[in-house]
Amino acid sequence: MADYIEFFGFNDNPFRITPDIDFFFMSSVHQEALASLEFLLESEEGFAVIIGEPGTGKTITIRKFVNQLPENVEYAYILFPNLTPEEMFRAVLEDFGIEIPDNATKNKLFSMLREFLIRKKREGRKIFIVIDEAQNLPVETLEELRILSNLETEKEKLLQIILLGQPELEKKLSSPQLRQLRQRVTVMTGLRNFSKDEMIDYINYRLAKAGNSTVRISPSAYNLIYSYSDGNVRLINLIMERALMSAFVKNKHSVDKENVKEAVSSLNLEKKQKKFYLVITAVFLFFLIVMGASGYYLFSKKETGIKKIHKEETAVVSVNKLNVRNSPDKSSDIVYVLSKGDKFIILQKKDEWYKIRYKNIEGWVKKDFVRIDNE
Ligand SMILES: Nc1ncnc2c1ncn2[C@@H]1O[C@H](COP(=O)(O)OP(=O)(O)OP(=O)(O)O)[C@@H](O)[C@H]1O
Ligand SMILES: [Mg+2]
Repeated sequence: MADYIEFFGFNDNPFRITPDIDFFFMSSVHQEALASLEFLLESEEGFAVIIGEPGTGKTITIRKFVNQLPENVEYAYILFPNLTPEEMFRAVLEDFGIEIPDNATKNKLFSMLREFLIRKKREGRKIFIVIDEAQNLPVETLEELRILSNLETEKEKLLQIILLGQPELEKKLSSPQLRQLRQRVTVMTGLRNFSKDEMIDYINYRLAKAGNSTVRISPSAYNLIYSYSDGNVRLINLIMERALMSAFVKNKHSVDKENVKEAVSSLNLEKKQKKFYLVITAVFLFFLIVMGASGYYLFSKKETGIKKIHKEETAVVSVNKLNVRNSPDKSSDIVYVLSKGDKFIILQKKDEWYKIRYKNIEGWVKKDFVRIDNE
């Protein structure tokens, strides 16, 4: 390994898979996730939820976030959360460095935590708990977290909570027992795989960060990395590390298709993009059919003089943050939070509410906080 690092003139392994914040790449999705966490801290209460498939960067994002916290903020970080409520209280207290008597009951643990939080609040400190891999939390532990997050003194909440998890977490949160928790979710963001351009920027960022400017990667090598990784950051790292190894063994300073092929076969990876192309082809065919059919429809209507052209109406958020809710009711669940300037499509109007679509999110917003876009 050392030889390989020296060969390319790196000062560190550029594609190590541990979430190391020195190598953090500020892609637009990761930036959005960080902004949502900052928004949570500013809002002083509630939960933030970050959902992402394995290897999309949940853990590295939270590490980046906690690394740049203001001095008055403290947090507990819980990683293996298949925990009963009692075990969760213990884990949190231990992470805050509090000694726990051996025979402490669940109630005792709860009151110790409460006292700790009140003391910290008096000292002017902000406290939050991060639960990583939160898809493994039992429902009753999640419910206890909600109760904790409701503790308050003189109208100020004592604690905020960040849940990071795979898509199963989102499913779990939608269960009827967790309805109240859902209402306390201030921000929910998703991490996704990189696009091909993002992937290329990411790879070059990591190479440069490791001190190298001489490795060349051919366009066909990039194509192959993308089709095997589908833009998943962990897979990109794994493939790049092996591909560089393969180039090193052949005494080359460039990575081409053959090196990537060797890398993916040693990792036993299968092409992910095959499926993607199939889907694209299917979608394309579907549109052809729909366009053909609607062309026929418009054409035949034209003759009868009732041709109808529908133009989508769009609008822009005019306040700093705007909740998107599940239904046109201000106590319904928040499904997303839009920011000032975000542009979306209006699907339906009802009293004080608009039903909207933003990217792939649909929900309801109060019409007072948006401006119809007349472009
Ligand atoms: N924005 C980023 N900048 C730099 N490296 C990243 C970024 N996002 C992900 N990675 C890298 O991808 C790999 C996976 O990231 P991470 O462990 O944070 O993913 P995860 O979503 O927590 O996965 P899991 O669900 O399996 O825990 C790590 O090697 C990490 O360094
Ligand atoms: Mg993780």
